[in-house]
Amino acid sequence: MKVAVVGATGLVGGTMLKILEEHRLPVTELIPVATEKSVGKAVIFKGLRYPVVTAATALEKQPDLALFSAGGATSLALAPTFAEQGCRVIDNSSAWRMHPDIKLVVPEVNGNVVTAQDMIIANPNCSTIQMVLVLNPLHRRYHIKRVVVSTYQAVSGTGQKGVEELMNQRNGGGGQGVYPHRIDLNVIPHIDSFTANGYTKEEMKMVLETCKIMGDDSLKVTATTVRVPVLTGHSESVNIEFCNEFDEQEVMALLADAPGLVLVDNTANNQYPMPLDCAGRDEVLVGRIRRDYSQPNSMNCWIVGDNLRKGAATNAVQIAKLLYSKGFIK
Ligand SMILES: NC(=O)c1ccc[n+]([C@@H]2O[C@H](COP(=O)([O-])OP(=O)(O)OC[C@H]3O[C@@H](n4cnc5c(N)ncnc54)[C@H](OP(=O)(O)O)[C@@H]3O)[C@@H](O)[C@H]2O)c1
Repeated sequence: MKVAVVGATGLVGGTMLKILEEHRLPVTELIPVATEKSVGKAVIFKGLRYPVVTAATALEKQPDLALFSAGGATSLALAPTFAEQGCRVIDNSSAWRMHPDIKLVVPEVNGNVVTAQDMIIANPNCSTIQMVLVLNPLHRRYHIKRVVVSTYQAVSGTGQKGVEELMNQRNGGGGQGVYPHRIDLNVIPHIDSFTANGYTKEEMKMVLETCKIMGDDSLKVTATTVRVPVLTGHSESVNIEFCNEFDEQEVMALLADAPGLVLVDNTANNQYPMPLDCAGRDEVLVGRIRRDYSQPNSMNCWIVGDNLRKGAATNAVQIAKLLYSKGFIK
């Protein structure tokens, strides 16, 4: 399998390379793609050195699969060209996620929707992926009415420049204006740009993508997305209201059994999910499960996932494995 990684010099692209190695897809040739300024650099994959090329050069090599993590504009411009050549595209940007003809996939939740006709498949927003892993088994059992989520998102979610901004400020330097305010020693309730309804685009991604992935437009979701001075690992406080009565012990059992999740809920021993514990892991951690006594049929939980792994690269590689297992990539 010839695999192009578009954005291979970026944070998600670099993680993509690691995960492609770990997940043992039969990659016979890697084609790392970045901008003109990175041509001349190289990446190491399975012990071999691969030179970085432009997208035009990559197209000439006729890849079977392209994993895109190079921003929305690049995906909008280039994904169709790769797809027209018969290359399966899995796109990490927000460019194609809400397009009515493009599937938005978290394999554990809706992997069944993928067909041989899907040449471009969208990878959801990082915060949405980790939340739907928890919502899905609970929705199947108790039917969710409403979700209220507040996020605590790491700076690596902004890419390499977000990490540099935090570390520069921590080391006494100034910022480059990556965020509208200082991020070190601060918390910024503003991710992506504001929309006319007062919510940010990141918040609206969580609302709209959750319904699309879960295949249920009746789900009510409201979100507040917040940037915090954490390097890797997004955290979420999630309040869930069910249509039906639920049982806390059964919720714990359902989540402990759900694919892609690890239940970390032992408050007697101060054990609950934290970003430092999830960074570098493919699984999403869930804990602090407790009844919400302020209204019927409601509970709270705390969800933490590695935004570069399950929030981006791991999910994309899992989609690639799904396509391969169905015989859609030779
Ligand atoms: N970070 C996360 O947690 C996360 C999670 C989910 C989705 N995503 C999405 O993934 C994408 C990349 O994010 P990132 O965090 O990895 O950003 P990043 O660290 O800034 O990396 C961006 C990468 O894209 C490449 N690139 C930019 N324009 C290009 C073009 N026209 N042609 C080819 N390559 C181009 C860059 O190449 P150069 O090095 O040559 O500039 C670099 O390799 C974004 O769409 C982002 O929304 C990120």
